[in-house]
Order: sequence, then structure tokens, then C-alpha cells
Amino acid sequence: MTKGFATRAIHLGHDPRDHQGALTPPLHLSSTFAFDSVEQGSAIFAGEAQGHVYSRISNPTTDLLERRVAALEGAEAGLALASGMGAITSVMWTLLQPGDEVICDETLYGCTFAFFQHGLARFGITITHVDLTDPEALAAAISPRTRVVYFETPANPNMRLVDIAGISAIAHKAGATVVVDNTYATPVLTRPIELGADVVVHSATKYMGGHGDLVAGIAVGTAEMMAQVRLVGMKDMTGSVMAPFTAMLVLRGLKTLKLRMQAHCANALAVAEWLETHPAVARVDYPGLKSFPQHALAARQMPGFGAMIAFELKGGLEAGRAMMNRLDLIRRAVSLGDAESLIQHPASMTHSTYTPEERARHGIAEGLVRLSVGLEEVEDLLADLGQALDNTLAAAA
Ligand SMILES: Cc1ncc(COP(=O)(O)O)c(C=O)c1O
Repeated sequence: MTKGFATRAIHLGHDPRDHQGALTPPLHLSSTFAFDSVEQGSAIFAGEAQGHVYSRISNPTTDLLERRVAALEGAEAGLALASGMGAITSVMWTLLQPGDEVICDETLYGCTFAFFQHGLARFGITITHVDLTDPEALAAAISPRTRVVYFETPANPNMRLVDIAGISAIAHKAGATVVVDNTYATPVLTRPIELGADVVVHSATKYMGGHGDLVAGIAVGTAEMMAQVRLVGMKDMTGSVMAPFTAMLVLRGLKTLKLRMQAHCANALAVAEWLETHPAVARVDYPGLKSFPQHALAARQMPGFGAMIAFELKGGLEAGRAMMNRLDLIRRAVSLGDAESLIQHPASMTHSTYTPEERARHGIAEGLVRLSVGLEEVEDLLADLGQALDNTLAAAA
């Protein structure tokens, strides 16, 4: 019988009896693997026998991580990569040919946007942005040239949600592959493969690692697709392989992923509800708020609303900057999903890869502030935000 989520995250694929009783899976630092014979090595290379060859292709420690994340996402297979961008680029270089089209949502993480617009577009691939919060807009835009439909849900940084099942059904009718960046939600809150998506990518740097001490990426999908990404996009095109030590740290993070997400979500809901009542705040975007335009979709698609909040102050960009500079406990830093609460300004930081005109077109407000709610005591977070917002309001009066 399939074990529950947290049990899989802790135990799947490792039996201490196979490792001299070691409770923690061993760290295999070997770059290369010795063959019993030339014939065996040749058979492994030809795919006729199982075995590791070289750690740019596979490694026993990363292999365990790949199997665990695949099991948590409800996918056949996984692939561990050097970073979230390594996962995204390796998947795309595997799937796409010159002449293909990628349809992606209006809002993407800054470096993903840059990879599509300034990377893929240079190699004869058409990038078309469509409002994927509206399935009919996809139905109108998709064509036989569309090879990939790509989106984040919730999207970085403005929190818009995409109906994964609805979009996947339309994409599949046209023969396109659906790739979802599930970094914000994690498989605790959303499992896109179970809703019809084909490939899921993650920045495992974030919640999966969970402690701000690594950079890592994961992709999951069918065994056939992941084998292709391993041997084409990862091995030959990007070389973007995860180090075994990093895999060990992500394996450690996974053990507490469910617990941490529950605590992150509880803190974030309390912070979002509190922010919405503060007189200095103009708007708060958090899927758990009743005022969130896509709250009904969030309630249907996410059993918890995540821990990322986007908000704007009534005093706009200047007030937002002043408030951030007054924070004491909450750290001014990019990245997200750490135990520490982190705040940043997308227009000048994570989304500075967009021009101001592109940000306006893609729905990323100049004054938007992005908060990754951590695991501190929520009273301390509210006190820090409270003093920063109150003082900003007083200074403007
Ligand atoms: C939604 C999302 N996807 C992908 C990435 C890229 O991940 P990495 O920094 O691990 O390359 C990030 C990084 O912030 C992100 O927020």
C-alpha cells in the first residue's frame, strides 16, 4: 500500500539494513563508477543494463532524492538539477526545436522571463505570453506550433493562480506539453501532475531545501520524459547537475516539508489578514484572503494557501522602500521559503530582468513588495511589520 506523504518524504527508497544500519542515507561523492567488465560498462552505456556511470548523468544520492520527489509529486520519475533555472532550461532545451512556440503566462519569475525572451527567442523559438488565468484566452491562442504551455501557480511575484486542470485539458487537445513551476506551492499544497500537467519544475532552493543553505532544482514527469531530459538537456546541453552533497541537504529538508508548509501557511494567513487591516496598506494579494480575486480557485486547487504575500502601500514605491528599510527582524533579501522571513522589491530585484514597460504590460506593479513569511513566532513578525508601517505612515503625515 502507498504510504502517506510525510512517511514517503522520510522513508521512501532507503532501508538502513542495506547500509550497515545507517539511518541517514549515505552521501556518495564519487564522480565515476567502476564497471565489473568492459561488457558491463558497454551494456550500461547502451541502456541495456542498470547502473551508474558518471555523476553528471546519475548518482546514488541524487537518485534517492529524485525518487522521493517524484513520489511526493505523484510522478513516475524525477531529475535533480543544479538550480531551479537548471531544471527549467534543461527541460526546455530538451523539448523545443527551432520553429516551435512556447505559450507562457503573463507573469513569470524574472530569470525565467529572461531565459524565454532573451535566450530561447534567439534560437528561433516563438515566445507568446497569454493570460493563462483565462482558459479561453489559451483556447484562442494555441495552435499546432505550440509545443509547450508554461506557467507558475501561484506566480512570482504577483500571486496570480492558474487552473491547472482547465489549462492542461486545452493544451493537450492541441498536442502541447504542460510544464508547471510548482516552487511556490510545493507538492504539499499542489500536485500539478495529478491535475493533468506533464512536467513539474522546482527551485528546490526554496521550500524543499527550506533552510537557505543551498541552490538546487528538480524536475518530475514521465519516466520517458525524464530520461530524455537527463540525457539531452542535463547531460549534454546544460551540464546542470545537482551535487550529491546538495541532494543530501534537500533530502533532509524534505523530511520536514509537510510540517514546515503547514506552519508557513498558518503564519502567512495571519500576516495577510493583519496587513489588509493596516491603514498604510493599499492592497494585499494572498490566495487565502476572501478579497483575493481567485480565492475560489485557490480553495479548490490548494489545501493551504502558501506563504508568499504581495502587497502595496498607499504611498507607493517610496513608502514601500521606506517601510522595508525600517524592518528589523524581517530580512531584506531575495529567495523565499526559508525559516527566516524575507522581503524584497521585485521591480528592482528579482524582476529587474523586465524593462519598466514590460513590467507594466505583465502586471508587475513598481511599488509591489514581496514577503516570504517564515517560521518565526507570528507575533514577532506582526510587531516588526507594525513598527515599520506605523513609522512610515507617521513620516509621511
Ligand atoms: C518561481 C521560481 N522559479 C524558479 C526560480 C529559479 O530557481 P533557482 O534560483 O534555484 O535557480 C526561482 C528563483 O527565485 C523562482 O522563484
